[in-house]
Amino acid sequence: MNSKHKDALTARDVRFCDKLIKTDELILCIDCGSSFVKTLLLDADGILTQKYEFDQFPYDYINSMAEKNKCIILLTGARAGHLDLFRLPADVIQYSEIDCIASIPKSIRLEETVVVCIGTGTPFIVYKNGVGVHFGGTGIGGGTFLGLSYRLLKREDPKEVEQLARNGDLSKINLTIADVYQQDVSYLKSDLTAANFAKRTEASESDIALGIHSMISETIGMMAAQIARSNGIDNVLFCGAVCENALICDSLEKCMGLFNIKSIFIDNPGFGTCFGAFSYYFEQKKQPHIGGHQTSATATIRA
Ligand SMILES: Nc1ncnc2c1ncn2[C@@H]1O[C@H](COP(=O)(O)OP(=O)(O)OP(=O)(O)O)[C@@H](O)[C@H]1O
Ligand SMILES: [Mg+2]
Repeated sequence: MNSKHKDALTARDVRFCDKLIKTDELILCIDCGSSFVKTLLLDADGILTQKYEFDQFPYDYINSMAEKNKCIILLTGARAGHLDLFRLPADVIQYSEIDCIASIPKSIRLEETVVVCIGTGTPFIVYKNGVGVHFGGTGIGGGTFLGLSYRLLKREDPKEVEQLARNGDLSKINLTIADVYQQDVSYLKSDLTAANFAKRTEASESDIALGIHSMISETIGMMAAQIARSNGIDNVLFCGAVCENALICDSLEKCMGLFNIKSIFIDNPGFGTCFGAFSYYFEQKKQPHIGGHQTSATATIRA
């Protein structure tokens, strides 16, 4: 996260993980997502996060680790079934991704929220009264960001596209309320988007890069806000690797602000599902989380 996010955070930092439980076992969460495999390992020294391409998953390393230690593997993610883990000398427990994502709010002691996990695609989970319900989803997400960046800009590194977008001018790409109406429309301000990518004027690569950010974040943001409002919830929690993109987070926050909804961003958002899996595991075991080591998410609320 950029420094602005860090600064915004300090005062209203929401943390959990109080109780200390010593563990002799290794607990490894493997989130095998549509794009990347994420692992979060908890051992006596703390936690270690890693990210792999699917075909570079380190079976041998995990095998040798599991041979030396008692090891529990929490397995989740859309492509979990594609990993061949059940021959490893470890207890493998498979969880649904939705159960893991729905456990993130519990781990930061939120009573109710809409969890939006912006990975390759984007599911929305309504969490209320201790229960997470898969409300729906959209195919707009990080996969869209990557695909459009490739097709329109011939670039494949999201960080490079974010950098490019910092010099972009959105008025070259999007039609705004000001372009089509003479005054504000109900709660809509004049600089809000009336139609993404609707303009056909000259535009630079930076403008297009910013247009991609805007289309993805506004589509997801508006859906999230409306789901929150229709469920009487006043905050939305964002996770998934796309939330490593500060421009996207700023735009999501702006959308939430239109509806007076608080935005909550977790640290290390690409590992949100892993944090949720840990939370779910401890809940199933009826154990408090392991404290001392940060096994769970920390979050920032932006009102
Ligand atoms: N900084 C970034 N800005 C925009 N998109 C990004 C950024 N970093 C990663 N992405 C995109 O996020 C996606 C990967 O996110 P993540 O690892 O959370 O998804 P996943 O778990 O593999 O997928 P899913 O959960 O949908 O099955 C990829 O499409 C990648 O291109
Ligand atoms: Mg994922």
